[in-house]
Amino acid sequence: MPVPRCDETAAWAALHRHFEDGGRVLDLRQAFASEPHRFERFGIEAPEVFADLSKNRWSEATRVLLLSLAQECELTERRDAMLRGEPINTSEGRAVLHTALRAPRGEGPHSDAVHDMLDRFLAYAEQVRDTASSGFTDVVNIGIGGSDLGPQMAVPALDAWCHPGLRLHFVSNVDGHDITPVLRRLDPTRTLFIVASKTFTTQETMANAQVARAWFLAQGGTDLGRHFVGVTTNLDAAAEFGIHRTFGFWDWVGGRFSLWSAIGLPIAIAIGAENFRALLAGAHAMDRHFAEAPLAQNLPVQLGLLDVWYRNFHGFTSRSVAPYHQGLRRLPAYLQQLEMESNGKQVDAQGRTLPLATSPVVWGEPGTNGQHAYFQMLHQGTDVVPVEFIAVKRPTHTHADLHTMLLANCLAQSQALMQGKTAAQAATERAPTASPDLPSEVLAQQRCFPGNRPSTTLLLEELTPRALGALIALYEHRVFTSGALWGINSFDQWGVELGKALCNQLLPKLVSGDTVGLDGSTAGLLQRLRG
Ligand code: F6P
Repeated sequence: MPVPRCDETAAWAALHRHFEDGGRVLDLRQAFASEPHRFERFGIEAPEVFADLSKNRWSEATRVLLLSLAQECELTERRDAMLRGEPINTSEGRAVLHTALRAPRGEGPHSDAVHDMLDRFLAYAEQVRDTASSGFTDVVNIGIGGSDLGPQMAVPALDAWCHPGLRLHFVSNVDGHDITPVLRRLDPTRTLFIVASKTFTTQETMANAQVARAWFLAQGGTDLGRHFVGVTTNLDAAAEFGIHRTFGFWDWVGGRFSLWSAIGLPIAIAIGAENFRALLAGAHAMDRHFAEAPLAQNLPVQLGLLDVWYRNFHGFTSRSVAPYHQGLRRLPAYLQQLEMESNGKQVDAQGRTLPLATSPVVWGEPGTNGQHAYFQMLHQGTDVVPVEFIAVKRPTHTHADLHTMLLANCLAQSQALMQGKTAAQAATERAPTASPDLPSEVLAQQRCFPGNRPSTTLLLEELTPRALGALIALYEHRVFTSGALWGINSFDQWGVELGKALCNQLLPKLVSGDTVGLDGSTAGLLQRLRG
């Protein structure tokens, strides 16, 4: 018997009834007034992360129905199948075992292979970190997508743990404006290039690796074997490129889930072996929580259920992530790949067209910067966008006053989104910058806020390697949860293929100018670009 998709369950129909019978109009202000323990009821303690889910538009009844939905969709059975290593990525016939990368030695599938490789790349990372003997001052990671975003997100996040004598650079884009300013500042004798690509065929990475190699040789660089290392599952292709020191991983590690593998080498070089192991341990703690906590207290499950509730019932099309920690500035970009490449699908795993919406758009910027850009729209725009605040209790800097201001801003934004302001309240206030010519009732309308705008706040004690590991694993399992309910394969990405294939066809045409067979727009643009 195939597992039912969410819309084929009795709970789905019950959720629709519940939505029409009051779920749609739930008012957070009234909910807090009538439920003195709402914060406690909707607070969840998970490893390294406390989540306040109380400012979301759901009630206990909603939650109970969503839990029935998870049960009818056999979420726990599907989770266990993933953790056991069954080939749940059915379109590629692969297991999905990023959790095995952070399991302690002796636990989890492929343990020996995982730990042998981990020991190897961590030992190498330590060699590089011994700058007096390695001579390296700069490390350039050349990779894109999952071979870039994880390290690019984690290295600034863990800046306080980073080696002070090593500069990490990330080159991903095939746009030469990415690599050029990086190379301009490098000394070839002191630079290590890491060419990171699961397939070792990705156009952008191969092209940038060739530019880096040509630059290195042109600068008089010698000993390519010492200055270029590879991270890939395609060891032959790396050898063909001329890279002989390679760190491998496996086809059961998806690109966007790969920062725990040797793809994390730049992170390990930056923070050292011990801290990298702490990152893995934090992720493993979250894996255990996901595997063992009852669904009602299971944070990734609760977040995934809320995502389904918002996307399919409320019809919210996006979610904004606002990390109130400058080190997490690349987290939204990282989550865009994790969530949108995983769940941006329109057919289910059986190839049936889905009659429901899937991945929301995920976007954001660190707070407080976002407040001075797009928060206007979050507060007064016509779309409701659930916001996810991430706050860290203890900073790793010494500017206590700045940190207090940061936290006050974070709390104020979620409070303002929920609380809003009526026109009557606005009318009682003086707005010093308002024009005296504008009728006061017009001004009051412009200065009122609808409120009842939902948000989640994730709290970390400190952004340590362990906490970051737990946070990222939390997001991975949340994506699994919503994907499983939607019945999609969250682990393939066929949607990226067509553009790649067309690019390969257009490349020679851009050189030759041949526009035969092209649509009018593409032909016209191509001619303009050549002219
Ligand atoms: O184009 C999408 C993608 O395949 C991602 O899934 C992947 O993370 C990225 O390209 C990079 O792929 P690779 O590591 O094989 O270079």
